[in-house]
Amino acid sequence: MTSSRQRISKAALAVRQTLAPLDIQTGIILGSGLGSLANQLKARRFIETTSIQHWPRSTVPGHSGRLVIGYLESVPVIALQGRVHYYEGYSMEQVVFPVRVLGALGIKNMIITNAAGALNPELRPGSLMLIADHINLMGDNPLIGFIDPDSGSLFTDMSAPYDPEFRTIALNAAKTLNITLNQGVLAVTTGPSYETAAEVRMLRTLGGDAVCMSTVPEVIAAVQMGLRVLGISCITNMATGLSSQRLSHEEVKDAAGRTEKIFFNLITAIVQKIDSNEGSGDS
Ligand code: HPA
Repeated sequence: MTSSRQRISKAALAVRQTLAPLDIQTGIILGSGLGSLANQLKARRFIETTSIQHWPRSTVPGHSGRLVIGYLESVPVIALQGRVHYYEGYSMEQVVFPVRVLGALGIKNMIITNAAGALNPELRPGSLMLIADHINLMGDNPLIGFIDPDSGSLFTDMSAPYDPEFRTIALNAAKTLNITLNQGVLAVTTGPSYETAAEVRMLRTLGGDAVCMSTVPEVIAAVQMGLRVLGISCITNMATGLSSQRLSHEEVKDAAGRTEKIFFNLITAIVQKIDSNEGSGDS
C-alpha cells in the first residue's frame, strides 16, 4: 500500500514531467464559477487532473479538473480549475491532495477562492470579500491522522492563517482598481444542502460574514506546509433568509461568473505584488 507522501510525490512528479519547466511561486485554486481566470492566462499549458494518478476526480458540474500554468501579466502561476469538495464524499486527505501536490512542486504562495453566501447584510452579491479569518464548522480537519515530518506540525498554529501582509497588498490593489473589497470572516459548513434560515442566524451570531462549503480544509493544509495564503470569496447570494430568493448551484455559479472581470483584475494586480514580495513576510 502506498503512503500519502508517496501518492503526493508521484502526482507531483507527473505534473512536473508534463508541465516542466516549473519555477512558479504562486498557486491559485479557483472556486465555483471562477474557473475562467485560468483560460485567460498567457502562454498557458494544462494537464487534465484525471490523467494524474491519485488525483481525486471532480464530480460537480462546472468543476472541470485541470491544472493550468501560464502568466498573469509577467508572473507565472499555476491554477487549479475544479477543486474537489468534502460534500462529494471525499476524505479530507483527498480534498487537500491538490494543495499538498502544489506544495510539493515548490509553490510558496496560495491564493484560494470560493463562491460564498453573505451572512453580513452589508455584503452584496457580486462583490468580493477578503477572508480575514475562518470558522471551521465541518466537524473534520485535514490534519487528523496526517503524520508526515515533511509537512509541518500536526498542531499547526492558526493565529494568522490568512497572511496579514498579503491582505494589505490585496486591500491596496483593490483601492487602486476602485474595487470594493470588504474583509470578513468565512464560516464553512460541509454542505451540500444550503443552510436553513435558522442556521444562517446562528452563523451570523457566531461571527461569520459569509458562508461556503470549501476552502477551509485547503487553507489548513497550506498553513501546515508553511505556505502563505490569501483567500478571496466571491459573494454570489445573500444567505438563506436574508433575501426571498431560493438558492441553486446554477445561480451561484452564474453569479460568480458575473464577477469575472473584477476578479481577474484584482487577482492579476495582487499576484504582481506578492510575487515581487518574496521573503519579506514574517507570518
Ligand atoms: N451557502 C453555502 N455555500 C455557498 C453559498 C451559500 O449561501 N453560496 C455559495 N456557496
